[in-house]
Amino acid sequence: MVTYLLGIDVGTTGSKALLVDVDGSVRASATTEYPMSTPQPLWAEQSPADWWAATVISIQWVLGESGVKPSQVAGVGLTGQMHGLVLLDVHGEVLRPCIMWNDQRTAAQCAAITQEVGAENVLQLTGNPVLPGFTAPKIAWVREHEPEVYERIAKVLLPKDYVRYCLTGGCFSEVSDASGTSLFDVGQRRWSDEMLEALDVPRRWLPEVTESPVVSARVSARAAGETGLLEGTPVVGGGGDQAAQAVGTGIIVEGVVSVTLGTSGVVFAASETYRMEPEGKLHAFCHAVPGMWHLMGVMLSAAGSFRWYHDALGDWERAQASESGRDAYDLLTEAAAEVPPGCEGLLFLPYLSGERTPYSDPDARGVFFGLTLRHRKAHLTRAVLEGVTYGLRDSLELMRALGLSIGQVRASGGGMRSPLWRQILADVFDTEIVTVNVTEGAAYGAALLAGVGAGVYGSVAEACNTTIRVTGRTRPGPAMAIYADYYPRYRALYPALAPEFEAMAQVVSKHLAAGDEQ
Ligand code: XUL
Repeated sequence: MVTYLLGIDVGTTGSKALLVDVDGSVRASATTEYPMSTPQPLWAEQSPADWWAATVISIQWVLGESGVKPSQVAGVGLTGQMHGLVLLDVHGEVLRPCIMWNDQRTAAQCAAITQEVGAENVLQLTGNPVLPGFTAPKIAWVREHEPEVYERIAKVLLPKDYVRYCLTGGCFSEVSDASGTSLFDVGQRRWSDEMLEALDVPRRWLPEVTESPVVSARVSARAAGETGLLEGTPVVGGGGDQAAQAVGTGIIVEGVVSVTLGTSGVVFAASETYRMEPEGKLHAFCHAVPGMWHLMGVMLSAAGSFRWYHDALGDWERAQASESGRDAYDLLTEAAAEVPPGCEGLLFLPYLSGERTPYSDPDARGVFFGLTLRHRKAHLTRAVLEGVTYGLRDSLELMRALGLSIGQVRASGGGMRSPLWRQILADVFDTEIVTVNVTEGAAYGAALLAGVGAGVYGSVAEACNTTIRVTGRTRPGPAMAIYADYYPRYRALYPALAPEFEAMAQVVSKHLAAGDEQ
């Protein structure tokens, strides 16, 4: 009888269930969407009940569609959006909507916690600065703004761990997701007593934490009735979405790094030892591989910059594309391929939504620098692709400075469809760019972790070696030497412009407040 693994990704837009054969082939996949609400500007909330309802539908669908018997599912792995705050009362009832990872309401709480604990101390205790997306400042916000809710808190859970609670009745987390709470000692892989004490968060509120491939709970009779899974099916810890995605693309040895070119760009490196960036510019989290850590840089507008460019300046290509049945992005990149690397001195800064790594700066903005009469549209296009790639290299350089040697970059995400962009990545990074057979993201990694917990694979390495294959390689070419000269010029621009970004933000907000720009 063939055995299957179920990965569940409680994502930002929907819950995905992925049924994977233990040989690695995908048997069925279903995503059920849910809404996100923005009750005030910069807020982002979701209903945990919606996650569970969507997860039930997705599980029912993959079981029904595939005809796989519940008894054939050896294990379940959970992954999902990180950092979100789910609060339960003593009866296990949700107290308020989840405050999500992309909610920005807690700037004041972050500043207060940093002030109270000390910036250096926070870094030493948790490996990271306290950021508005993280969980602890959200607890502080609830204490200040919703004391009636705060008084009733009995449990604090992360999004995927709430779904685990619904699926098993158990309150557990695992090391990779716990790393993004500002309450976790990433180096020691346990809750930080010092942070809990400093923030007045009782230890009993927090779930027990396991390593990611460990079976922490089993499907309950009630959830079995709802989903169609078998009661008692093992559920492993799983991982935060980035760590699980890394497992699902084989980023499990030091020296192999992933670059995901989605709307945002994520550079993710596995590390055999605990390293943190001295100023906290990279996230330093536990990996979903037991005994490993990871470093991560997040660029806010990666393929998002190219989408903006396509939307704002690609009218002609879009019209051509709809006439000829071609893709407007392909038309743009084909023309850009004709322009010399370095764009004859034209640079693009990709800070269209501010930036997170390497400069945590909400006021940073996009810039074209170095325009001359010689520049044509194709130069602008190529400059966007190059600028995003330089920005990703910033994260790689921070990793190299910590002593990580980078032998291979595995690239994924929509931007990787372009051969030109793949070549630019290889040339700017001076590293081989590799693509792999798996494109299912975090849910796939969660399924592999389930396979380890269920004893199907002996280790995460065995799971990855069984299922993930390299499908393409792009090697650095002669343009590498040109980019070696242009990259330092790119690097110099942000520090030169940072005071102007701040000054401009003040001018814009003054006039917006006055209603001048309606
Ligand atoms: C990781 C992060 C995102 C969210 C949503 O630090 O903020 O990956 O987990 O995807």
